[in-house]
Amino acid sequence: MTIVMGIETSCDETGVGLVQDGKLLGDALASSMAEHAIFGGVVPEIAARAHLQAIVPCVQQALHKADLDLRDVGAIAVTTGPGLASSLQIGMAAAKAYAVTLGVPLFAVHHLAGHAAADTLAHGPLPAQCVALIVSGGHTSLLTLRDLAVDRINHIGDTRDDAAGEAFDKVARILGLPYPGGPSIDAAAAKGDPHAFKFPRALTGPGQPKYAFSFSGLKTAVARTVEKMQLKGQPVPVEDIAASFQEAVADVLTSKAILACQEYGAAELIVVGGVAANSRVRALAQERCDAVGVELRVPPIRLCTDNGAMIAAVGDLLVRAGAKPASLNISTTPSVQLEYASLA
Ligand code: KG4
Ligand code: ZN
Repeated sequence: MTIVMGIETSCDETGVGLVQDGKLLGDALASSMAEHAIFGGVVPEIAARAHLQAIVPCVQQALHKADLDLRDVGAIAVTTGPGLASSLQIGMAAAKAYAVTLGVPLFAVHHLAGHAAADTLAHGPLPAQCVALIVSGGHTSLLTLRDLAVDRINHIGDTRDDAAGEAFDKVARILGLPYPGGPSIDAAAAKGDPHAFKFPRALTGPGQPKYAFSFSGLKTAVARTVEKMQLKGQPVPVEDIAASFQEAVADVLTSKAILACQEYGAAELIVVGGVAANSRVRALAQERCDAVGVELRVPPIRLCTDNGAMIAAVGDLLVRAGAKPASLNISTTPSVQLEYASLA
């Protein structure tokens, strides 16, 4: 059975994972997050330089953890898009170098399909059909998935403006909480009252699109609330605002996801991507799935945020499905839509 090495460098995390037959053998992760924090967001030039430094040590560390030698690797999978152009190029160049040197096939992987596949490493193969909610820093989509390695991915709904993670990052900045915003808001919200402020739940009223998302109005509502308090010289209740904002996001994401499961007859919901690490999103999704008899699958937190194992997981599915490898003149596709897991 082929051992697949996955390489992920689409944003500020350098991830390498080794997967064989659905099992994670070893992985390694380096992050340049701390270097971006003072700028309040990812600086592409800094991220690309950090990938260049980290990629080979991450490969060595993942192999060491799995107790494997580079020559044991039988295929390479790499994130080809979407992501930051210069960051993707580092991973792609490294992946080609490993593939050519080892004489093994190269598989081009869509980053968001990687998020979905991450769950298979924790909970086994995906069912024949399920609803997936992918919530990351750049994307928010409700999908129906069939065979991830073969079938076209069906979009039920997407965000019309900000992604859920982007809303967390922007609201954290408004509240003066450190980057990345998701974990900061999650921590602040734990000490706040989620009912202190009634923030809007966009596109949830009668006659509105059932599955599309919008988070920019919610972010503006938080900004206005904070501005008004500051103008009046009132102290800003950061924890209550964080909790109320987080509640609004979790409410909208989970209510639409449950509705999709019911309408599409899915017995299982998978919630993946960085925002799936959020404690309230996880708890509310569980509560609402339990109430309607849908089985919830959410990966452990370290597999929710970007990592190399999830890309290796897609590569492993592609290898086992007999998919066509990518040609060695393939380039990156920084803004590619999610249609197929393979970008070959
Ligand atoms: O999937 P991911 O690691 O990278 C992208 O593909 O974008 O997601 C990163 C996003 C960031 O916006 C980050 O703030 C958010 O996931 N995030 C969270 C939490 N942990 C990470 N959002 C809410 N709560 C969290 N605990
Ligand atoms: Zn991601």
